Amino acid sequence: MKRAVYPGSFDPATKGHLDIIYRASRQVEHLIIAVLKNYRKNSLFTVEERVEHLRELTKDLHNVEIKSFEGLLVDFMDQENADLIIRGFRAVSDFEFEIQMAQTNYNLNPDIETVFLVTKNEFSFLSSSIVREVAMHGGDVRNMVHPLTVELLQDKYKALEVE
Ligand code: PNS
Repeated sequence: MKRAVYPGSFDPATKGHLDIIYRASRQVEHLIIAVLKNYRKNSLFTVEERVEHLRELTKDLHNVEIKSFEGLLVDFMDQENADLIIRGFRAVSDFEFEIQMAQTNYNLNPDIETVFLVTKNEFSFLSSSIVREVAMHGGDVRNMVHPLTVELLQDKYKALEVE
C-alpha cells in the first residue's frame, strides 16, 4: 500500500478538495495533505490557518495527516518517503496545468507517480478562488465549503473589514 501526498494551496479547502481527500484516503495506506507555503501568492489564509483548519476538517480520517511544505514537491515527497501524488481533475480546463505539473514531477523523479481522481460532477465548477470571490461579496458559499469553513470565511472577512 502506498504513502500518498495530496498537494495544494487549499485557500480555503472546498467541498471538492474534501471529496478528493475522503476518496483518496480509502485508496492508500497513508495520505499527507501538503499545504504549499507560497510566498508569491497573495493568500487569504495563512499557511498555519489552512493547516489547522484542514486538521479540524479531517480529524475523523485516521490515515490522514496535514503538513505544510516549501520548495519542490518531489523533495517533500522524498522526505516523507511517499511515492504517489494525488490530484483532483475537474474539467478539460485543468488538463494543461495538471499534465505539465505531472510531467515535470515525473521528470524530476520517475519513481513518483501522479494519480488523478475525477471530481464529482457537482463540484466540477468549484475552486478556492471562486469561493473567496463569492464569500468576499457576502454570497452564499454553503454549497461550496464545509460549514466550519463558512464560519472561518465570515470571520476572516469581518476581521479584514475592521483593519
Ligand atoms: O492548489 P494548487 O495551487 O493548484 O496546487 C499547486 C501545487 C501546490 C500542487 C504546485 O504549485 C506545487 O507542487 N508547487 C511546489 C513547487 C514544485 O514542486 N513545482 C514543480 C512542479 S510544477
